[in-house]
Amino acid sequence: MDEKKYKLAVVGATGLVGRMVLQVLAEKNLPILEYVFLASSHSAGKEILFQGKTYLVQELTEDSFNEGFHFAIFSAGGDTAKKYAPIAASHGCIVVDNSSAFRMEKEVPLVVPEVNSEEITNNHGIIANPNCSTIQAVVPLKALDDKYQIRRVIYSTYQAVSGAGRLGLEDLENGAKGEAPKKFAHPIYQNCLPHIDVFLENGYTKEEEKMINETRKILKKPDLKVTATCVRVPVMNSHSESINIEFEKPFTLEEVRKTLQDYPGIIVLDDVTKNEYPLATIANGHDEVYVGRIRRDESIENGLNLWVVADNIRKGAASNAVQIVEKLMEFDV
Ligand code: A2P
Repeated sequence: MDEKKYKLAVVGATGLVGRMVLQVLAEKNLPILEYVFLASSHSAGKEILFQGKTYLVQELTEDSFNEGFHFAIFSAGGDTAKKYAPIAASHGCIVVDNSSAFRMEKEVPLVVPEVNSEEITNNHGIIANPNCSTIQAVVPLKALDDKYQIRRVIYSTYQAVSGAGRLGLEDLENGAKGEAPKKFAHPIYQNCLPHIDVFLENGYTKEEEKMINETRKILKKPDLKVTATCVRVPVMNSHSESINIEFEKPFTLEEVRKTLQDYPGIIVLDDVTKNEYPLATIANGHDEVYVGRIRRDESIENGLNLWVVADNIRKGAASNAVQIVEKLMEFDV
């Protein structure tokens, strides 16, 4: 039997995440017959070299999805997604959206393939890619929740400037030369900023709220006790996170280590006798979630500390979205 071939659109193909989506797609040999690359009118006609062939970027319009698309990966921000993802879906195209526009909508699956790929089949045309800091956290959390049942989580994140897009990268680069910031509220060079996205009435930032709500949704634990402090640090790429977990059930560190090692998509790097632990520079360019500094929280019963690092543009955005498309093909949705 002939292999089924697909038509895929990449929306926001000229952006930081969109370009990584193209790189990840080029690395994989997916059965895609036709690619279409879309962006704003400002980029229409620009050339993109992809798998040895030159493509012209097309302007995203209400008519872009009229003709037979199976899938679209959107990385063009919330406003663009809100307007165009439902149009694409109405033409039978399944959208994987990187923005936060649809993540908390009840009928929209929020998917990390290693954790809840079964949710993919419940889609109504839109599937949401979670926030970058949530994606890398829920992979080890799910591995451990299945065994020991998580009661409470405390996140402290150390997030790279690439998570704030091109302007975030420029603020760090230009800040080192003494220039004032354009993206962040304060210089990121020589600073850690406890401020990602906007502040809410309760004093949390929206990034912190996203981590809390998305973790509950993905782990299917709506009442999970979880708190977060999200910090932007002067690192170009890859987010690092300290994750403190309290479990219902007792555990041994040996068993925790083995559970994490055996889980898909996790690499355990944890030999402090050799100063070995996950680092941003190790995670850069990879799709796995790196876990280390595995140790007991001795201040409570059944408490554990982890240090978790992943490439926020790859696993935190582009690769996760492409993995979702692969799952859609596998499940023949
Ligand atoms: P463009 O490059 O034409 O502005 P980043 O987050 O790195 O800024 O990238 C955002 C991506 O989303 C870019 O590819 C950008 O295209 C695209 N984009 C932004 N607004 C729109 C829009 N209204 N329609 C289509 N694409 C958009």
